[in-house]
Amino acid sequence: MIPIAEGSGGKKAATVEGFDPRVIIFACNWCSYSGADLAGTSRYQYSPNVRIIRVMCSGRVDPSLILKALRNGADGVMVTGCHPADCHYISGNQKAEVRVSFLKRFLPHVGIDPRRLSLEWISGPEGELFARIATTFTEEIRELGPNPLTGDDMPEVR
Ligand code: FES
Repeated sequence: MIPIAEGSGGKKAATVEGFDPRVIIFACNWCSYSGADLAGTSRYQYSPNVRIIRVMCSGRVDPSLILKALRNGADGVMVTGCHPADCHYISGNQKAEVRVSFLKRFLPHVGIDPRRLSLEWISGPEGELFARIATTFTEEIRELGPNPLTGDDMPEVR
């Protein structure tokens, strides 16, 4: 549990000391999830802060899901999918790219650093890459500190 202290202006400010980021990775079933699975079976170490949510395609990750994750306590969210031209649903990863790009421009308007959202292409045989990207992203989020807009501070998402 992250100790929360009242900051100036009525905003919650979390104590960064001892901060343990919560990172959500949406992983497409056909490529990235296989990469994560391979990372596990190959015993590549990656951050235990990561929680993986398997989706059929990165194009399935609606922006509202990303905002809900950030609202409900995630400090960072990564969307991962098949490399360009490898999507099993033809253009799902292209849709994901457009959505993440849009959200990165939107997030500052609700007080969230866009670096808290990332998009990566990881294929099934790239277990080592999955482990490296998951760990690097977690450390970047650790440096950013806690998500300042969890809970009541975040606009309602439906
Ligand atoms: S099936 Fe992997 S990104 Fe579409």
